[in-house]
Amino acid sequence: MNKVIGAGVNRKDGRAKVMGTATYAAEHQIPDLVHGYLVTATIANGQIKSIDTRTAEKAPGVIAVFTHKNAPKIFKPSNDFMNSKIYEARLPLADDKVHYAGQIIGLVVADTFERARDAAHLVKVEYTTQKPLVDGKEASFKEAAGMFGEEMKFEKGSFATGNAAAEIASAAAKVEATYKTSTELHAPMEPHATISHWQDANSLTVYEPSQWVLGTQRTYAELFGLPTERVRIVTPFLGGAFGSKAFPWPHGILCAAAARKLQRPLKVVVSRRQMTANTGHRSETEQTLRLAATADGNLQVIAHEVKSYTSPVNVFTEPCTSITPVMYAAPNLRLNQELAVMNVGTPTFMRAPGENPGMWALESAMDELAWALKIDPVELRLKNEAKQHQRQGLPFSAKHFAECLRVGAKEFGWKDRAKQPRSLTRDGKLIGWGMAAATFPGLRGKASVKVRLLPNGTAHILTSGNDMGTGAYTVVAATAAEALGLPIEQIRVEMGDSLLPDGGMAGGSMMTASLAPAVMSACQEVLKTAKTKTAQEAFANLRQSGRAAIEATASTAPGAEAKKWAFQSWGAHFCEVSVDEEIGRLRVTRWVSVMDIGRVINSKTAASQVRGGVIMGIGQALMEECHFDPNIGYPVVYDLATYHFPAHADIPRIEVAFVGEPDLNFNPVGARGVGEIGITGVSAAIANAVYHATGKRIRDLPITPEKLL
Ligand code: MOS
Repeated sequence: MNKVIGAGVNRKDGRAKVMGTATYAAEHQIPDLVHGYLVTATIANGQIKSIDTRTAEKAPGVIAVFTHKNAPKIFKPSNDFMNSKIYEARLPLADDKVHYAGQIIGLVVADTFERARDAAHLVKVEYTTQKPLVDGKEASFKEAAGMFGEEMKFEKGSFATGNAAAEIASAAAKVEATYKTSTELHAPMEPHATISHWQDANSLTVYEPSQWVLGTQRTYAELFGLPTERVRIVTPFLGGAFGSKAFPWPHGILCAAAARKLQRPLKVVVSRRQMTANTGHRSETEQTLRLAATADGNLQVIAHEVKSYTSPVNVFTEPCTSITPVMYAAPNLRLNQELAVMNVGTPTFMRAPGENPGMWALESAMDELAWALKIDPVELRLKNEAKQHQRQGLPFSAKHFAECLRVGAKEFGWKDRAKQPRSLTRDGKLIGWGMAAATFPGLRGKASVKVRLLPNGTAHILTSGNDMGTGAYTVVAATAAEALGLPIEQIRVEMGDSLLPDGGMAGGSMMTASLAPAVMSACQEVLKTAKTKTAQEAFANLRQSGRAAIEATASTAPGAEAKKWAFQSWGAHFCEVSVDEEIGRLRVTRWVSVMDIGRVINSKTAASQVRGGVIMGIGQALMEECHFDPNIGYPVVYDLATYHFPAHADIPRIEVAFVGEPDLNFNPVGARGVGEIGITGVSAAIANAVYHATGKRIRDLPITPEKLL
């Protein structure tokens, strides 16, 4: 059986979302709940000289005001990446220091949200202010020793083979260019919010949008000195996360600490404006690419040097060089990452962290090289595709990158491409075609799943792993339906609660690859326990015996295969743009994406993930940017009106196709996951099309109108 494409199944959770019955963190109804509003710093660098809470404390409905002077007790967690982690190493209200504008410096608790917000504005703060560093041109860079957090175990930035400098000097064709991306803000539909409910001084339930309920459970347990089982994290639904909801942020920690002190259930909602500083963003990057090739287009050198920025309170390196040893083979590689500290909130994971800005630079440079060599950019990529991961020294498992390129070119009609820039027009506008590759690693974690067969003929699948809007409920149900031979309507899925078996993290595009093998295994296990061949027989036996249920739990985990193979997903984007040069208007008018993600379990939600990635990439390419005021250090954008995103009117029809085969070297289901790959390469494909349309090479994102005039 070579089953790549699963049927397109509707979302299990679709009706609940449309009907408004899907419950998000801030919507859980808890009796006696009180409300907290964050007080945030109005300077970006300095110290709190005095903080006067007397007026706020006397305001109507106010229950308590917390500042660094009466900060509730919190313990620093181990901050070990795959166990327990917080986004900012500095604990909230730790001292009087202010490291970035919008940093949390207090929390006002009142009986209503409005009264808490009102009183928060009555807190009087005087500061000692230093000039903030928010301009990368003034920052000093050091080689990035770690990638993320305090004790990062991921591959470090620097890596070299051969002698790149010598080869560049003598190369027949070369590209040396610097590509920039802007600071991009996280803006999931569901804003960050936490409800903390202490049943007693040592038992905590947290309703929080968490991509990783078990990790968050361990982290809160460490933060409050509790045994893990005294903490419960509840996240049945998550309104988008994209990397910003994997670990607790300061507002959530402070919410739990204040609720413990007050012994009242407490809700803290982070406003959109507060989110611009407090819940992560993607650092701007500056990437210098040097490519050198022989006259017939064989790459000899890829040198990739990256600069990004972190906050004073945590290390986060945007790991752009992760893709460089993966995409194209070259005997001389040079990779380097540098990091500088600025007075900005802590940058963090954002859909394809590293891969997305990395592919922007590499795929732009490849296009420049193709023009320099007068070689079709598809041909140049086919000629140079890497057969192995050049850093890990391992061959790729189940790689169908070439098929992505060929199928995409055919679907798009690439062979009819005009051979010169500025040679296509339509309705008075310049038209351009562009393409770029996409890639993302195949990641997988350990996962446990429980299956319960009930006499009413339904199978319940239970796991802590959760669905952040990606379609995980549906993929789990479809996998169980196949394994048990039942219609999907008879499968009920419960996810996103730390009381359930450990389903791992909804991050790194790995939820499907982690969970699907565990679901399969648990389904086989439950039939063994039932001593039947089919679920139908098991249901019949249950009814006859009068038993309440038959259950089995199974755990699966990655194993020795990672020593033999490098697992990577692949793709290609082809697009058309139109440019109105009179007003600098750029529109994306046509899109084809072809992906090799191993087995596709649900073609409908998988295609949605790719479309979502492309849309987010169009935002990055055309409009998303956050600047910081050079004097006061504040982000100059602060809501959904000032930070521009694509709306439906900005998005063309996006055709998505899948190629390849199940990656059975990776896991027994053969699926590699699809959450992030869609965004990689998108901005490069657009800039490449803009060059084809206008003859202008834009190396600085976003491609706003003034850059096209
Ligand atoms: Mo993703 S950036 O791993 O949530």
